[in-house]
Amino acid sequence: MIPLSRYLGRLFRGEASGERLSLVQDAPAVICRREPALAGADLFRSFGVGDTRSYALKGVSADFQPGELNLLMGPSGSGKSTLLAVLSGLLRPDSGTVGALGRDVWRMGEDEMERFRLRHCSYIFQGYNLFPALTAREQLEIVLKWGEGCSAREARCRADRVLGQLGLSKKAHLRPAEMSGGEKQRVAIGRALVKNPSFVFADEPTSALDWENGEQVIHLLTETARENGAMVLVVTHDPRLTPFADRVFELADGQLQSEMEPESFEAEACVSGLPSAYEHTPLRNNSLRVRLYDPHR
Ligand SMILES: Nc1ncnc2c1ncn2[C@@H]1O[C@H](COP(=O)(O)OP(=O)(O)O)[C@@H](O)[C@H]1O
Ligand SMILES: [Mg+2]
Repeated sequence: MIPLSRYLGRLFRGEASGERLSLVQDAPAVICRREPALAGADLFRSFGVGDTRSYALKGVSADFQPGELNLLMGPSGSGKSTLLAVLSGLLRPDSGTVGALGRDVWRMGEDEMERFRLRHCSYIFQGYNLFPALTAREQLEIVLKWGEGCSAREARCRADRVLGQLGLSKKAHLRPAEMSGGEKQRVAIGRALVKNPSFVFADEPTSALDWENGEQVIHLLTETARENGAMVLVVTHDPRLTPFADRVFELADGQLQSEMEPESFEAEACVSGLPSAYEHTPLRNNSLRVRLYDPHR
């Protein structure tokens, strides 16, 4: 029996065509879980003081695996952005721990934390956060030159390769004011991915985009998880993204609800004859329904 995770890996690399997946219909898939890449434990975070103090996170614990796309959903004000910021080393929790790659993130000193974020973490926000004065190419190059000390030549080469993958080769010379929203978000994603991060944190990355652009963005993030083995955590309101996710977490009033149950949380794996279009479509078709869940939870 092929573990589903490996099957999906092959599927996304286009190697699974015609293959038979020996899973029994409706049987839970056994997924080999590795050590979590990121683990939050008993996280609390409040804002305000005295009478005005209120808790945005009330004891959240969650593990995230490498190579997976995780969605964090929930109503506005439920604490999604706060949790993302705490897990990603941007906002210190009142209490609780965040472990990443075997390190205790909130026990690092400031310099160590800065280096850790620079080396391992990428951030994507709804507002793109691009430098207005830089071209698309320069937005990526700067990360490599400053972050990794790359030579100008290597930075250019790697930036151009990623821009090509994003379909932005012809836009490399444009500045943000000359780009559409979708193009700006793709550049922001390129900037996030060019350094091959271990973690990608995205807060509402598709909410300012129409669905066509939003779909492109979620495809890119899915590929980043599957092909580069990154742990991708995406805060979103958009239920259209759930078919792309390996796991969906739901927050309500600062507390994690149980992971969302099937229906919206089923991947459908096709048994044979996968068209190449599958590379860019959620898995649906005449297919075997496989529940993705962690048997140890
Ligand atoms: N910087 C802040 N100052 C005061 N309150 C904040 C701040 N950031 C978030 N909050 C509060 O924490 C709660 C959770 O906010 P947030 O994490 O932004 O929710 P979400 O992203 O789910 O909309 C909300 O009640 C919000 O008002
Ligand atoms: Mg938010």
